[in-house]
Amino acid sequence: MSAPAAAPRAAGAFLAACRREPVAHRPIWIMRQAGRYLPEYRALRAKVDFETLTRTADLAAEVTLQPLRRFELDAAILFSDIMTPLQGMGVDLAFEPGPVVRAPIRSDAQIDALPALVPERDVPFVLQAIRLVRANLPPGVPLIGFAGAPFTLLCYLVGGRPSKEFGAARAFLYAQPQAAQRLLTHLADAMAEYLTAQAAAGAQALMLFESWAGLLGPPQFERFALAAVRRTAARLRHTGVPLIYYVNQGAALMGAVRDLDVDVVGVDWRTGLAEVRQTLGAAKAVQGNLDPAALFAPPEELKRHVDAVLTQAGEAPGHIFNLGHGIWQETDPDAVARLVDYVHEHR
Ligand code: CP3
Repeated sequence: MSAPAAAPRAAGAFLAACRREPVAHRPIWIMRQAGRYLPEYRALRAKVDFETLTRTADLAAEVTLQPLRRFELDAAILFSDIMTPLQGMGVDLAFEPGPVVRAPIRSDAQIDALPALVPERDVPFVLQAIRLVRANLPPGVPLIGFAGAPFTLLCYLVGGRPSKEFGAARAFLYAQPQAAQRLLTHLADAMAEYLTAQAAAGAQALMLFESWAGLLGPPQFERFALAAVRRTAARLRHTGVPLIYYVNQGAALMGAVRDLDVDVVGVDWRTGLAEVRQTLGAAKAVQGNLDPAALFAPPEELKRHVDAVLTQAGEAPGHIFNLGHGIWQETDPDAVARLVDYVHEHR
């Protein structure tokens, strides 16, 4: 039987690349691909606030699917937020639009009071959104589930609001290291439960977002952030789905990540992928790492910036094209269309 002339993305390239298998075309998806750069997302947001979008299964599923209707993306990512499961655990927070925690966690008593996460009870709408997305995705396009990595969640829980430095969270690691470890262990276990439930509901890959790793030097990264991710990753192995660890500003941390049991490491644009691949070794796939700002280049120049990423990534199997961080809300959707098409032309 001859293979049907399928759309490029119908070939399962994303999951194959996660497993470092050869692919017919370079898979691409975009961090925060469901979001404010899309007019159809803004139209929905004009009627419904962000929190309601994340907590209503059919709306979250609809927003997840929006970018897939426009672009030949190789994967969908669940529309949700890293703080959504913490809300489910009873943490009082608001999105303004970044997460603001009403009573930042600073004491042992507050850590003791955090309940375990029971996903089917606490965030049923997330699992239902996954089931709805799976039922409505174009054939062959997998769905990525995700969670915040424990240290990145700690940054918001302890810091209380978005910040560039997260001074309170970093000071907490030094002032109350045992409390920090207890909080991280609790979060590591909760996120393992959460991601296990996402896989059971139909997520075909799982991603941990370590957005604030770059705030830590290697010793603190290994002792706190990485130790917690190891715990989560160990508890996810039985799911059998690929695990992606995204490390923002992690150039100096790649040596430590080499021994982590994940399938894919996502990186920002500050380090060339050639160096990242050399440091991580052949046993890991890489994901990234075009600067989100590059989408503002004129079309012909954008191609050259894409070529530079592809050259850095090399031809060995195991590269998933992505931006180095979330797409900016000011981005022209037409630039995204050009990016996706151009990456797919690369053989
Ligand atoms: O990638 C996707 O398309 C899936 C959706 C997604 C969102 N947040 C939607 C969102 C994902 C994967 C996230 C993860 C997330 N949330 C991270 C990790 C990734 C990263 O950016 O480093 C972090 C740190 C958060 C916390 C958070 N939530 C912030 C800092 C903000 C403000 C962002 C901004 O650009 O203003 C949010 C709110 C948020 N999460 C929005 C979206 C689409 C904007 C909310 C709105 O519509 O008003």
